[in-house]
Amino acid sequence: MNHSPAIIVHGGAGSIPEDILAPMLEGCRKAALEGWRVLDAGGSALDAVEQAAIFLEDDPLFNAGTGSTLNLLGEIEMDAAIMDGHTLAVGAVAAVSRIKNPIRLARKVMEDGRHVFLAADGALRFAREAGIPECSPETLLVEARKKHWEKTHGTIGCVAFDRSGAIAAGTSTGGIFDKLPGRIGDSALPGCGTYACETGGVSCTGNGEAIIRTVLAKTAVEFLLGGSGPGEAARKSVAFLEKKTGAKAGLILIDREGRIGYYRNTERMPVCLISGHNEIVTDC
Ligand code: GLY
Repeated sequence: MNHSPAIIVHGGAGSIPEDILAPMLEGCRKAALEGWRVLDAGGSALDAVEQAAIFLEDDPLFNAGTGSTLNLLGEIEMDAAIMDGHTLAVGAVAAVSRIKNPIRLARKVMEDGRHVFLAADGALRFAREAGIPECSPETLLVEARKKHWEKTHGTIGCVAFDRSGAIAAGTSTGGIFDKLPGRIGDSALPGCGTYACETGGVSCTGNGEAIIRTVLAKTAVEFLLGGSGPGEAARKSVAFLEKKTGAKAGLILIDREGRIGYYRNTERMPVCLISGHNEIVTDC
């Protein structure tokens, strides 16, 4: 228990309107602090990731939980995953509605342990059995999202490194605007939008179809395994995605030494990272 903790959160990648950029950065800062408090008190990377993600899911500015974007039918269908780098335990949910905090449900799936991934009505049924509170879909839909839905899309994510040296990663999203009902993006797919192992933890954001095709989170870990530092691994992964698909994305990561990296080829990706002696950095 002698490692120096570290945490990074992102609030989605894309072209973010100027008027919401500052509040988004502030939301990222507060979310990172939520997770940091857990780590600073000796808590686990998993708990830190869950707390930070819940904070961002509850902030209507972000496309996850409350504030999720809408599919072609005007409905909310959310995806989320959380992964423990030490055990490779992972829980994921997809196409869920009526759940205020999908990351909490993903954690329950992980802890239950029978399955890795639950979707749609089956995930809702599991949530009821697990005592995860339901909400009406209307409470997840915010006015700002109705107004900005054509412009704002994104995802939220967090990677944390705790005092024991454990890494965890989590990602949550409302997906992409105007998606077909039933479309599942990268966020909940282990290895694609979310991955953690003893080498590193990663959360991705951006074009989900391209992220799936390039297995982007695991690709970033492969670059770490190949000797790249965290910043270089992030940059090479996004370059690989761009070269192979021409798409836009970003990712955050932490390596086995608690070193942080992030990169995007999008216009913006609000992030906040905290490491060392409470050093807080925000960037976009
Ligand atoms: N990256 C989020 C999504 O495509 O669903």
